[in-house]
Amino acid sequence: KLDITIVGGGSTYTPALLKTICDYQDQLPIRSLTLYDIDEERQAKVGRFAEILFKEKYPEVEEIHYTTDEEKAFANKDFVLMQIRSGGLKMRVDDEQIPLKHGAVGQETCGPGGFAYGMRTLQQFIDIVKGIRHFSPDAWIINYSNPAAIVAEATKREFPDDKRLINICDMPIAIMDAFSSVLDKDRSQLSPRYFGLNHFGWFTALYDETGKDRLPEIHSFLKDKEILPSEEAMLDESWQDTFKQLAQMTRDFDGYIPNTYLQYYLYPAQMVEKSNPTYTRANEVINGREKNVFSMLDDVNERQTVEGSSLVSGVHGDYIIDLMASIINNESEMFLVMVENKGAIENLPSDAMVEVPCLVNANGVEPLRVGPIPTFYKGLLENQLAYEKLTVDAYYNNSYDDALKALVLNRTVVDTPKAKAILNDLIEANKDHWPKL
Ligand code: G6P
Ligand code: MN
Repeated sequence: KLDITIVGGGSTYTPALLKTICDYQDQLPIRSLTLYDIDEERQAKVGRFAEILFKEKYPEVEEIHYTTDEEKAFANKDFVLMQIRSGGLKMRVDDEQIPLKHGAVGQETCGPGGFAYGMRTLQQFIDIVKGIRHFSPDAWIINYSNPAAIVAEATKREFPDDKRLINICDMPIAIMDAFSSVLDKDRSQLSPRYFGLNHFGWFTALYDETGKDRLPEIHSFLKDKEILPSEEAMLDESWQDTFKQLAQMTRDFDGYIPNTYLQYYLYPAQMVEKSNPTYTRANEVINGREKNVFSMLDDVNERQTVEGSSLVSGVHGDYIIDLMASIINNESEMFLVMVENKGAIENLPSDAMVEVPCLVNANGVEPLRVGPIPTFYKGLLENQLAYEKLTVDAYYNNSYDDALKALVLNRTVVDTPKAKAILNDLIEANKDHWPKL
């Protein structure tokens, strides 16, 4: 039986994840569940909710804890799931609004916003992983903290030999779910081929159980459809827009199907045009998901039952459970994971942190060979990789120069005076959070 900790226990993603853990209890026998967060108040609400939920839905779990103490959170664990948001949603507002003020893309993981978020996240991420390793040297750490590409690059530098630290993102899976509904299949019946970096990759094939590539069908579906059908939970207005843009990208570029996040790099002007510089996605989340989830928690905690509550599960929880099951049952299921390239994508640097199909089993993560990629993609990826490396260099070297070079390289910025103006504003906004440049 497993002892599990969720770092970022106070996140609004935690309740849905806990529901999924209950739904899949046959696959995942749990002994104890611990939530860990630096925000005691937020986490207490989730923690009290967890006690009620598990008492009703999964009473075999012997212990439920929520704590701000590292030793309690990290000692003797089998799995630690990490979903930290450094600076909270308050800083996400700045990450998105500051670049927009200068006419650049305002997004939490792409462009200058992702840069700013990365500079805030790395120290906390590294400290937490060191804490976990101190108390539980063999625990599986499943990290999906953003900005994942930057975090992955730092992981490679800081923990190069840690085979049990897995960096993964749900976006490819959410896109796979949309593909599955077009083809009327279950996600598990489809095997993707994909290459790229986190939030910067392409599907190249999608094999069904007979070995037939079904990606061309997705292509023709999108020829005359405005949008891919997607998970109900994702269909708020912003995500609908994103899936519409995915359809547009697929029509503009023949062949592969991009990760939705490519919209920020391939259509930066259009994305800026569409944005409201004083009300971004962060504001939507603060006024939407945050309010809804916390009122659901308050409701459950007051009535002392989850029956009749608005709790729903989400794609986040689903794939994490699948991933954990693949490890403990040694299933060698395929997931798209961030790993050191080491030749998987033949014509990209060996030390690049790439996102490729991997088999996941009790031995960890084993990447599949992708082979060489065409010039257009190679060019885009080399550029983005250089941006990512320089961002992490800026963090380690406390270097304004590296930071500026990173932003100039980023396709959402390019112009040097613009990069400087954005960087200077970000430095000011992050003075209590960043290393001093
Ligand atoms: C997807 C991405 C995550 C990101 C999330 C943001 O799931 O893979 O990396 O954190 O979207 O969603 P939100 O609803 O907060 O804008
Ligand atoms: Mn992601």
